[in-house]
Amino acid sequence: MAKAYLPEGTKVPCHVGVIMDGNGRWAKKRGLPRKFGHREGAKTFREITRHAKRLGISYITYYAFSTENWKRPQDEVDAIMELFEKYLDEVRDFIDENIRVRFIGDRSRLKETLQKKMASVEEDSKDFDSMTLVLAINYGGQDEIAHSCRVLAERVKNGELEPSDITPELIEQNLYTEEIPPVDLVIRPSGEQRLSNFMIWQSAYAEFYYTNILWPDFKGSDLEKAVIEYSDRNRRFGGV
Ligand code: IPE
Ligand code: IPE
Ligand code: MG
Repeated sequence: MAKAYLPEGTKVPCHVGVIMDGNGRWAKKRGLPRKFGHREGAKTFREITRHAKRLGISYITYYAFSTENWKRPQDEVDAIMELFEKYLDEVRDFIDENIRVRFIGDRSRLKETLQKKMASVEEDSKDFDSMTLVLAINYGGQDEIAHSCRVLAERVKNGELEPSDITPELIEQNLYTEEIPPVDLVIRPSGEQRLSNFMIWQSAYAEFYYTNILWPDFKGSDLEKAVIEYSDRNRRFGGV
């Protein structure tokens, strides 16, 4: 695996989660409307995805829109949704780079045209294996766990399952991240030190990396810094 950008022996996380935060503040600092920050953040997303692949990261998940972000002013929500539509066309470029694209979250609240684009990108990239890019859109960790519980409750109701059969593994199998490994490293730019409902189940044993840099200013070298710091951490998973 090409890791020329990292010191010899760096342990690269298999799955990195990125909370793309600080777009609004980036725009505000420049006296621009918040949507310009989102546009700039989308550029960073493309750059960082390509760099993640160069570093040998196998899965990268981006928190793009949370189940709580609907609370924002309608014009900002509309601008973000428009950006998704536009960028989904561009995400197709990743397919040419052998990158698999997947989406997590509740799609039912998204526009039908967007849902269709999401399904077709997923289908067209399903056999690619150089890296998996996961986009969390209308995603909430609590909503995801509730979704899994509903699926299992149905199975109990149908007599396929006993309540005592419900294990963490079974809950996990019914999350949106089915077949995606747990998160090893969560990166949150913009100075906030919280998860904001991002992958609360999957990051149970993740390492956290926080930086004050705003997402639109985040560079490949910042990703390298996060990976190097991760590599130096001592993960114990409850053991000694
Ligand atoms: C993150 O940037 C993008 C989304 C939540 C869609 P913000 O829009 O939260 O930026 P700040 O936190 O207001 O600066
Ligand atoms: C988290 O950022 C959601 C995304 C990055 C999509 P927020 O900006 O919504 O989180 P809070 O409100 O600061 O916790
Ligand atoms: Mg924010």
